[in-house]
Amino acid sequence: MDFTLTEEQIMIRDAARDFAKTELLPGVIERDEKQQFPAEQIKKMGELGFLGMMTDPAYGGGGMDTVSYVLAMEEISKVDASASVVMSVNNSLVCWGLETYGTEEQKQKYLIPLATGEIIGAFCLSEPEAGSDATSQKTTAIDKGDHYLVNGTKNWITNGGTASVYLVICQTDIDKGHKGINALIIEKGTEGFEVGLKENKLGIRGSDTHSLMFNDVKVPKENRIGEDGFGFKFAMKTLAGGRIGIAAQALGIASGAYELALQYSQERKAFGKEISKHQAIAFKLADMATEIETARLLCLKAAWDKDEKKNYDLSGAMAKLYAADMAMRNTVEAVQIHGGYGFVKEYHVERLMRDAKITQIYEGTSEIQKIVISRSILK
Ligand code: CAA
Repeated sequence: MDFTLTEEQIMIRDAARDFAKTELLPGVIERDEKQQFPAEQIKKMGELGFLGMMTDPAYGGGGMDTVSYVLAMEEISKVDASASVVMSVNNSLVCWGLETYGTEEQKQKYLIPLATGEIIGAFCLSEPEAGSDATSQKTTAIDKGDHYLVNGTKNWITNGGTASVYLVICQTDIDKGHKGINALIIEKGTEGFEVGLKENKLGIRGSDTHSLMFNDVKVPKENRIGEDGFGFKFAMKTLAGGRIGIAAQALGIASGAYELALQYSQERKAFGKEISKHQAIAFKLADMATEIETARLLCLKAAWDKDEKKNYDLSGAMAKLYAADMAMRNTVEAVQIHGGYGFVKEYHVERLMRDAKITQIYEGTSEIQKIVISRSILK
């Protein structure tokens, strides 16, 4: 078993690390406070190829492997999880979904500008009454011959206001249950499609989360992804890869907080010595480093499974479950190590602690990951 990264993977990781330090770190506290979308930074991320990392270069992407994507996600998330969720959704839910299941026309029209970062995309599954219970879709897409007529509301949509292209999961035939669900590509500006108010969130406050309203929206049939009734499987397959991205985001949030706590503990003195020399703190750091390395290995294993074309439903769910819960525990510890300083904004760790929480919720809560894992090991 070879754990060595390739030169290319190291180069990508280092480029992401540099970008995070020089472009994302300045202003990250203010963006969080003002709930300001990192528009300029996301534009630069697109130019550097971070928004379509795994997409085939024939469609404007970087043609990189999932391991490289995980490495870059960790580095970006160490500094700015609001930017990394945009990156995660665009790469693993939108670009991957279109590249894997879209028609050639859909790829030419939508994937190329999405992978180059010219525009960004959103993935719209959650509804006011369908979060974890994703088959209970109330948004309808009624078949009208050459088009679908879409009605309903989507909730908690990442990139909701800033996206140009939305992959929207809708129920076409209720009698067929999840086999009557379709995934449709809907463009911003289509008549009857409205973006609702921006959510005022606990964490990832720089990201742009909205509800969306569809009122008699006409969507041409050629905008359906896959065969009639493929929408739920599309969502599940896409989310399986998305979960690797969010696991890497959680890993990055935790390792960012750990690095800050490590540095602080070697500078701050109490009872005549650096606090890192007190066993109470040293043992915390030891636990954090061990848990972070465990999460990193789970993330890389899931990415490797995907790159090797093995099934990654189980490894992706395990990586997300562990990394998200680990990020929550360890960001709380990072605040604790910082003491009073950890409780104020300038030291970053309180933001990372707030950002960590969402990784236990979106793209399948920790409880949903346990459903996926237990079903997989019991089947
Ligand atoms: N790959 C392919 N097919 C899959 C699959 C997978 N990974 N998982 C399930 N399916 C298929 C099943 O095989 C089944 O099809 P058949 O009947 O043909 O066999 C069908 O999907 C229904 O599956 P289940 O019977 O298992 O469905 P369920 O109602 O028990 O739910 C669930 C399964 C895993 C709980 C699912 O509902 C789920 O993942 N829920 C969470 C949804 C979620 O992650 N939401 C996040 C929102 S998106 C987001 O957060 C993005 C963002 O903006 C950051």
